[in-house]
Amino acid sequence: MFHIQRDSSVPLSEQICREFADRIRTGILANGSRLPSVRELADMLDVSLVTVVQAYRLLEQRGLAKRIHGKGTFVHTTSQPGQGGNNATGTQAYDWQLAVVDYLPRAAVLGIHGRTTSADVPYKLSTASLDPALSSLLFPRDIGQVVQRAMPSLAEYGPVDGLEALRRDVVSYLREFGLTAHPDKILIVNGVQQAIDLAARAFLGPGDVVVVEAPTYPGAIDVFRSRGATIVSIPMDAEGIRLDLLTRQCDQNPPKLVYTMPTFHNPTGIVMSTRRRRQLLELAESCQFLILEDDSFSDCSFMGPPPPPIRSLDKHGHVIYVKGFSKVFAPGCRVAAVSSSGSIHTRLIAAKTVSDLGSPVITQMLVHACLTHPKRRQRVLDIAKAVQRKRDIALEVLSEQAPPGISWTSPQGGYNLWVTLPPHVNTDALLIEALHAGVSFLPGSACYVNENVRHQLRISYAWLDDDALREGVSRLCGVLRSALESTGDHHLPVL
Ligand SMILES: Cc1ncc(COP(=O)(O)O)c(C=O)c1O
Repeated sequence: MFHIQRDSSVPLSEQICREFADRIRTGILANGSRLPSVRELADMLDVSLVTVVQAYRLLEQRGLAKRIHGKGTFVHTTSQPGQGGNNATGTQAYDWQLAVVDYLPRAAVLGIHGRTTSADVPYKLSTASLDPALSSLLFPRDIGQVVQRAMPSLAEYGPVDGLEALRRDVVSYLREFGLTAHPDKILIVNGVQQAIDLAARAFLGPGDVVVVEAPTYPGAIDVFRSRGATIVSIPMDAEGIRLDLLTRQCDQNPPKLVYTMPTFHNPTGIVMSTRRRRQLLELAESCQFLILEDDSFSDCSFMGPPPPPIRSLDKHGHVIYVKGFSKVFAPGCRVAAVSSSGSIHTRLIAAKTVSDLGSPVITQMLVHACLTHPKRRQRVLDIAKAVQRKRDIALEVLSEQAPPGISWTSPQGGYNLWVTLPPHVNTDALLIEALHAGVSFLPGSACYVNENVRHQLRISYAWLDDDALREGVSRLCGVLRSALESTGDHHLPVL
């Protein structure tokens, strides 16, 4: 039912365990589902029986499965997000589906916040999205009229590369960040997620090397995996991705594309220095790789204007820059803009055509109305200030209540705090404890490709209102405290 990477440094049993764990945690595999027999799975994946036995043992140790003598191994977890409980009889009819191979190995992890509701988890610290009370600040008062004005356009296809009026105003918006572009070289897409997918479809295939930062945005890992690309992750330092290691990678096995989030990196919040941006571009020019620059968060800065995008330095078309409008504008509209040049741009438009023939006209018009809101500049600053206050609340509660031995970042923008626990604590298992306490977070393992790093977690502070945020972080601190006090407890496997 999934792919394993035989050339990976991660043992096969660990890979198999993780693939099941992702699906179990998010409810794709329901509580009570029978996992394939050891022999079936060994045949399916062409691995030894011992490997499967070991994988199932790891699942049991991590509190996600149970072996019943003579019957098999079953999903067994005390808490599963978005699931009403054990529906073993309901799932048995669908057991055959386990043999259908999919290419979405970790999309399951993203489902953690997609599938849970506020009723399941009142304190969602996993949602990297803006408190809806704040994003509506940018909606024009006459939003109903915008929809009405859109009506005639709904009767025909819009341009594949996006509405001209939106592309023009995107160009003005990008100029405020130091990026000069031409409306003809802007492509409107359905969110940054689609831009990543289009770049991957257009330029990555089996065997191509794509470099990501370690840690990185989990949604990008899913996309690159689904293309069969070889993903190489390169650690970061305080200035961004480490170029000494990237240069070594270029010497040994050059990447075709480097995916980076230089401004308020998700999950660490790191801002790549201007110097590092220049050096990365120089390396791209000398090694002829593409840079996919994900700019989801630059409009939520607590430090004044962040450094200009790498694309603003790009003279020879190495950068595919993506500006997202989901973070401070309207995530429900699913709109982002791509700035690239030459035949790279043309091929991205071709990929967009194959994918969906163009983004919906009505959502483009709504984002256009937000962008051209007469008070837009001030409102974006107000939103950033309100988010900064939320960051401060999260930092304050952590410094008052987090147990010793834990450290965290203090981001200068964006929505995410990156928390590091002592190495023996497994945040995958800790999530189950946290969900019992009504709190969710993103386990750090979701942000790594192959590294077995499990002692970090991401808190997103922008979603909850201030009081709920205070309560959520406080509850999380309680969970962390009991985790550290009860190390060795069977709920918290020591790895
Ligand atoms: C770094 C990063 N890239 C891309 C996305 C997806 O954004 P969009 O809603 O624009 O598709 C997210 C969403 O959380 C993100 O954090």
